[in-house]
Amino acid sequence: MSSYIENAREFWDDQAGDAAWAVLSDPEKRDGKWDAEEFYSAGRSEISTLFDFLEPTLGSRIGPFERALDFGCGIGRLTQALGSHAKQSVGVDISVEMVKQAREMNSHENVVFHDNAVDDLGLFDSETFDFIYSSITLQHINPEASVNYLREFARISKPGGLIVFQLPSQTHQSRFGRAKQLMKNRLLVNRLLCKLLKLDGHELHAVSEKKVVRLFESLDCALHDVSYTNSTLPDFNGKLEILSEKPDYHYVSRQYVFQKNPG
Ligand SMILES: C[S@@+](CC[C@H](N)C(=O)[O-])C[C@H]1O[C@@H](n2cnc3c(N)ncnc32)[C@H](O)[C@@H]1O
Repeated sequence: MSSYIENAREFWDDQAGDAAWAVLSDPEKRDGKWDAEEFYSAGRSEISTLFDFLEPTLGSRIGPFERALDFGCGIGRLTQALGSHAKQSVGVDISVEMVKQAREMNSHENVVFHDNAVDDLGLFDSETFDFIYSSITLQHINPEASVNYLREFARISKPGGLIVFQLPSQTHQSRFGRAKQLMKNRLLVNRLLCKLLKLDGHELHAVSEKKVVRLFESLDCALHDVSYTNSTLPDFNGKLEILSEKPDYHYVSRQYVFQKNPG
């Protein structure tokens, strides 16, 4: 296991101590205050918002799928929701502790979870998923590794499969703006702690839109849409919105919709 992956796994295993809050960090839900039904219902509403957006964007009905992947599944908020739209829904996460809780919270036979401690998706065969989704995960991964996972999405996608993921395209702002934002940021203490302990996962990462689009074009995937989303805004809380304008926030979140060429 590389030291980057080892640190990230340690960080997220630790976060799993208050897992639902680590996923959706509503200040009022800290210390186990998320109600499980409310938390998983946020997953269903995110998938429903996503599909309501994808249908007119692609001009076709979305699903049902044969096999869907939720990359960075946490405790299965979105994996379970995808289970209603696929014969099999598969969640994968770096954290053993998150995956353990995802299994404990799961009551669906067609939903399965794996932990994975490498920066590739070699545990999955090529061309085996017809829907791949990732939300509020790639932003926590160092771009060197996240670009590798993106490459893997294209490899494991079936021809004609959809690859939809959220990833910020920008994290910077002026020094003054950044300081102001940091003061307001509810994760500040957490971040400082992580910095002191040299753990990863404490700051959000970005990959430029140009780099993402070029990468997928080189992997035989066509871009259908790239939009702004509210996913990095402090009040996100699982209530996905596809925005028509760039949000007034330094972590600029993008959602990409690619389709692997049918061949
Ligand atoms: C903020 S949570 C989001 C969980 C889930 N996507 C959701 O929205 O409910 C981020 C998740 O990404 C996972 N993660 C971080 N780095 C990862 C990696 N390299 N591979 C897979 N999962 C990773 C973490 O363990 C954590 O469960």
